[in-house]
Amino acid sequence: MSDSDLTRRRFLQAVGISGGAGALFATMGALELAPANAATPSFQAPRQSDFHLTGRAARKVVILGGGIAGLTAAYELGKAGYDCTVLEARAVTGGRNLTIRGGSAETDLDGHTQRSTFAPGNYLNAGPARIAQWMVTLDYCRELGVPIQPFVNANADALIYNEGGAPIRLRTAKADVYGYVSELLAKATDQGALDSTLTAEDKQRLLAFLEDFGDIGEGHEYTGSTRRGFSRYPGAGNDEGTPLPGPPSLSDVFASNVGHYFSGEFGYDQAMMMFQPVGGMDRIAAALTAAVGRRRVRLGARVLGVTSRASDVTVTFRQAGRVQAITADFCVAALPPNMMARVPHNLGANVTAALSSGFYPGPAGKIGLEYRSRWWEDDLRIYGGITQTDLDLNQVWYPSYDFHAPRGVVVGYYNFGEQAEAYGALTPRARTARAVEQGVKIHGERYRSGLASAFSVAWHRMPYLEGAWAFAQDVNSYELLQQPAGRVYFAGDWLTNAVAWQHGAFLSARTAVTAIHRRVLAT
Ligand code: PHE
Repeated sequence: MSDSDLTRRRFLQAVGISGGAGALFATMGALELAPANAATPSFQAPRQSDFHLTGRAARKVVILGGGIAGLTAAYELGKAGYDCTVLEARAVTGGRNLTIRGGSAETDLDGHTQRSTFAPGNYLNAGPARIAQWMVTLDYCRELGVPIQPFVNANADALIYNEGGAPIRLRTAKADVYGYVSELLAKATDQGALDSTLTAEDKQRLLAFLEDFGDIGEGHEYTGSTRRGFSRYPGAGNDEGTPLPGPPSLSDVFASNVGHYFSGEFGYDQAMMMFQPVGGMDRIAAALTAAVGRRRVRLGARVLGVTSRASDVTVTFRQAGRVQAITADFCVAALPPNMMARVPHNLGANVTAALSSGFYPGPAGKIGLEYRSRWWEDDLRIYGGITQTDLDLNQVWYPSYDFHAPRGVVVGYYNFGEQAEAYGALTPRARTARAVEQGVKIHGERYRSGLASAFSVAWHRMPYLEGAWAFAQDVNSYELLQQPAGRVYFAGDWLTNAVAWQHGAFLSARTAVTAIHRRVLAT
């Protein structure tokens, strides 16, 4: 036990003695010891000093893939002086951490080339776009000096749109759904329907909660409230404003299905506050790459084969038309599983099977629609956030940066599964036309007439990725690839319980780094 541990314990004992158990618990929380603290798994980065007096030294590591997992492996190993080389097939690092801004160009597997003409400052985070407060991604932003800003993941003024109905503000939908649910539960309670479950005291407390939660009044009826919003908000003097007409009947509210869109806000990974790097998500990949050192990152390097032997591992790759090889002590394979499955190797047929059929790479797509004005702010007074729909575009995101700027980029669709397949099968031009056609239903003709440019990404059609994220299909494959295969360690969000989050990629890289460093120190 270290001195500081001892001091801390004495301090806690002192507080416990003078303040009782409650004070002790509160103080533990403040010192980040209590379960209330949402800590990420502990990690000790390898240090040069770990080698002192061991007769051992940092080794050479070749890393396949310059996405977040691969870059992080190089970054953390580099802290102890490991000699790392990152092989990245694409022209930029980051992998799915991809920000499209003016000048960005991509060619997909169908041969469609797009070149973005977004105005300076405007961007689309085509991959990851939001970060929860508990995610280790924020720790890397702090450590790497990447400034962050709030990302609006839930906005009471954003809309819900179900085809055939009128767009409704999230605040209005919530007021009505919470209101009627509260009314029903309160009346059931009043009528004694819960008498076998609840004591008289429970009932009283439940009713007090429902009156507040649903804003229900006399007789526990929901008759609407100011929570629904106004068509004209209250003003000066005697102007009490004009409340929205309504509410619709209970039956109409449930028939309209607006209650199906609240759960995003409830999720531990989606609840506000959320954050994004200032200037685009790729600031993280850029900062990691700079920290690793450009000379250690080989772009346009496509992996051709991996051979693991008793004492080393050789990776062959093609870069600028030349086949080359690197022999190292260890390899971190940080490609998506479906890509790694195609790399010839001597790691065994069970590894190939696990990579190819143990994980399912799913489709997802996003389109950035740049508008010549920020009508969503100017006219609708929606500042960031997400409009959810039952249309095939799934959702529309309003930008959480550069409010009041002359232009802005809206995410015109972000969809998965069949919807993503359908859009991905179209040419970029046809994707834009379809997204606009659908979006006009929510936002009217300005959604067509105000459009300046567009850029879309179908992740399942992106070279070297061919999927948005890969979920394990069987536990054996997942377990197998947690283990090293000879001198090869697998890494990526797909090997974590945070698939489809950079958080997962960071944690997986840390796990591989820790295992390699332990092995080096032990052998
Ligand atoms: N991280 C991605 C996102 O926030 C994908 C995802 C969506 C992951 C929902 C989990 C839950 O959009």
